[in-house]
Amino acid sequence: MRLQSYLLPSLLLTVLPAAAQQPVPRLQIDTATIVRPASPGLYGLMTEEINHSYEGGLYAQLISNNTFRGNWMSVEEWGLAIKGDAQATSQVDPKDGPSAALPESLELKVASASPSSPAGVSNPGYWGIAVRPHTTYTGSFYAEAAPEIGPVTVSLIANQSGAVLASALVALAGSGWRNYAFQLHTGQTESSSQNHFELTVAHPGTLHLQLVTLFPPTFNDQPNGDRPDLMEKLAAMHPTFLRLPGGNYLEGNSIKERFDWEKTIGPLVDRPGHQGPWGYWSTDQFGLLEFLDWTEDLHVEPVLAVYAGYSLKGEHVNPGKDLEPYVQSALDEVEYVTGDAHTRWGAERARDGHPAPFPLHYIEIGNEDWFDRSGTYPARFAQFAEALRKQYPQYKLIATGPVQEKPGDQPDVVDDHYYKSPEQMFALVHHYDAAPRTGPKVFVGEWATVSATPTPDFGDALGDAAWMTGMERNSDLIQIASYAPLFVNVHDDAWTTNLIGYDANSSYGSPSYYAQCLFAAHMGDAIPQSSLTGVSPSARFFYSVTESRQKRVLHLKLVNATTLAQPLELALENAGAGEHVATVYSLHGATFAATNTLQSPTAIHPVQSSQHFNGTDLKLTVPALTIEVIDLPLK
Ligand code: AHR
Repeated sequence: MRLQSYLLPSLLLTVLPAAAQQPVPRLQIDTATIVRPASPGLYGLMTEEINHSYEGGLYAQLISNNTFRGNWMSVEEWGLAIKGDAQATSQVDPKDGPSAALPESLELKVASASPSSPAGVSNPGYWGIAVRPHTTYTGSFYAEAAPEIGPVTVSLIANQSGAVLASALVALAGSGWRNYAFQLHTGQTESSSQNHFELTVAHPGTLHLQLVTLFPPTFNDQPNGDRPDLMEKLAAMHPTFLRLPGGNYLEGNSIKERFDWEKTIGPLVDRPGHQGPWGYWSTDQFGLLEFLDWTEDLHVEPVLAVYAGYSLKGEHVNPGKDLEPYVQSALDEVEYVTGDAHTRWGAERARDGHPAPFPLHYIEIGNEDWFDRSGTYPARFAQFAEALRKQYPQYKLIATGPVQEKPGDQPDVVDDHYYKSPEQMFALVHHYDAAPRTGPKVFVGEWATVSATPTPDFGDALGDAAWMTGMERNSDLIQIASYAPLFVNVHDDAWTTNLIGYDANSSYGSPSYYAQCLFAAHMGDAIPQSSLTGVSPSARFFYSVTESRQKRVLHLKLVNATTLAQPLELALENAGAGEHVATVYSLHGATFAATNTLQSPTAIHPVQSSQHFNGTDLKLTVPALTIEVIDLPLK
């Protein structure tokens, strides 16, 4: 996150017009009277394979359709690369592949080729391949080739000029399927995504190909790893958890298309992939262990959602005997995540390269099971809960729909979802204020102010910030919360409003992204007594206040979602005498429609300033269309 300082903060505050209201509204806070605990781990992340979040997004692998899915016309994404008078054809061979999981391959039949007229195939990447200067790309492919075909040339080529930006020769050895690795080194070149990948040969013959991969440098240099720019943006959100693997992506359109975790682990060549619910195929090369590595890289915990026997188009598994294999699969999955290397699935995880267990506190049973019209969720939940609680009593269970009221079947937490317009979000800010505190805790597992596409504009950010003040005020009840969806490749905005946008080359955080970075970075563990007077309850002015008791800091969030500046007197009790210096982080949009884009990635971003106050009162003016986070040190 980039922070800048106000050059002339006091001038800026005085030139803005103030609302013609008398008397000046007053926010009174007694820092010594704690009314509720707050959840310091409130803010987390939720993602799934939607909008090319992983393949074509976070997952750094650059070749699209790298397992050669074909339709009756062609091999999707791949084209022929024919130079000079070379001649070749390509098609999917359904009967020849390197593994049981990938039983098919691309068959390239080269009738004529020479070193000056090579023939092969080309791949455009995910709407381009980002190539950067002086960079090493690592790749691999499986091939089965006739000996006469000679070595394979792999290259990165500029689309417009045809210039070869990096190239390597890979010798093929013997017959049968083998895996080949290569590296491509770029020299001095422009950073651009207007490039493609080619794999060619210089002699006639037949070549079968499967599982072609190409990686730029990844975050923390993790093999099979993630895009650094996106990981850095996530780290700046100060998340405490990652809800995985979905969302609808957990459920699939049908039972067959669910996230079947066992098929997403182990060597990539043993992962068959599956049809995702958001319109495209998932290779599962970004599978369960890659999700978990991702949590580790971000120093967060997984919130593990297990498939619970309901899929999006209405298929369900009956509770009882039919459900037993799914319950067992969930138990095994929890063991894969948390078991030590002596357990069956812990040992499997160790073989997959991660001997240490991952931390876990929450298990979510299904996703949005309130949509299940079969009425089986209460019994399905109860069956999962009984088995999970028997083996893993230490974990908190999250329900995703109404469940039975019988004692013992109660979830520890319920997952509530909100996708609302800015107006609806403003109206919902006090939704949880009077909610009972005697039942399960709340996980707001998906929430977003939804109007602009592909990412939120400043009006949406105001809705989000207002909503976050409500979640913070109720964070004794709302333990954890995650915005959704997190990612969008701007070439595939299947979902309207998404937090972080990108293409092959670069990424940007929306105004809502910056609002969340600020709110999460300045979150306390207690809620002091406070009251606001002089502001109409219908005014679009919102606040929350939490306190970090150990650090002795008050975190005040103020949201002015109107076009008039809002004067405010802050009356502090028990903050300590003498001069204090408050740090003010301000996020401002010129209009509701103002936003960030790939071309203007930080048009709206937080600016930092400081303000002196005497420990008891502070006069503020929150500018129009502004979200402010103020840290007030207590003495
Ligand atoms: O976030 C997009 C989708 O919205 C999620 O997959 C689903 O849980 C919800 O309906």
